Amino acid sequence: MLISERMIREGTIKDFDIIKRIEKRLFGRFSYMDEEIREMLNSSITLIFDDKGYISFFFEDDSCHVESIGVLPGEKGKGIGRALMESMEKICRESGKKKVVLEVREKNFRAIAFYEKLGYRRVRLIENYYIIKYRGSRNAYLMEKYLS
Ligand SMILES: CC(C)(COP(=O)(O)OP(=O)(O)OC[C@H]1O[C@@H](n2cnc3c(N)ncnc32)[C@H](O)[C@@H]1OP(=O)(O)O)[C@@H](O)C(=O)NCCC(=O)NCCS
Repeated sequence: MLISERMIREGTIKDFDIIKRIEKRLFGRFSYMDEEIREMLNSSITLIFDDKGYISFFFEDDSCHVESIGVLPGEKGKGIGRALMESMEKICRESGKKKVVLEVREKNFRAIAFYEKLGYRRVRLIENYYIIKYRGSRNAYLMEKYLS
């Protein structure tokens, strides 16, 4: 598949089913609840890649805050996550934001490797960031990247 920026569109509340499907396939019973998905679509910016992946983020002061990113299991490793992150960074840069911040589960080694590949660095460990334990931990790393 040739990745193109044109495959990315902005999501609205009408995309609830798409986000729900991606979340369920990725996290099963640990996925976002319906109300959380609605809240995300209503109050954050969501970008959707060809109904196969999405990123949700919001603006705060001088930064962009990534709330969630997910790519359907069968579509991972094809560049969709990178394309979504790059589109998000472009919007943030054009909006005058200086950096992107995000939280990632302490033991989500794949996602941490993905973010590090894209230039993000671990700032610190936040203890008990998540309400529900996942793989034995509730801790998260705060990661950041300064936009050039
Ligand atoms: C993390 C996630 C969004 C990455 O999306 P993806 O489409 O698979 O990633 P890409 O194919 O765009 O990979 C981008 C780069 O990261 C690297 N990368 C991706 N997954 C990696 C892994 N598990 N280990 C090491 N590097 C990885 C790729 O090698 C690639 O580098 P390259 O462009 O130089 O070749 C996706 O795997 C996912 O949905 N994971 C489950 C949900 C999740 O954990 N979300 C994060 C919550 S904070």
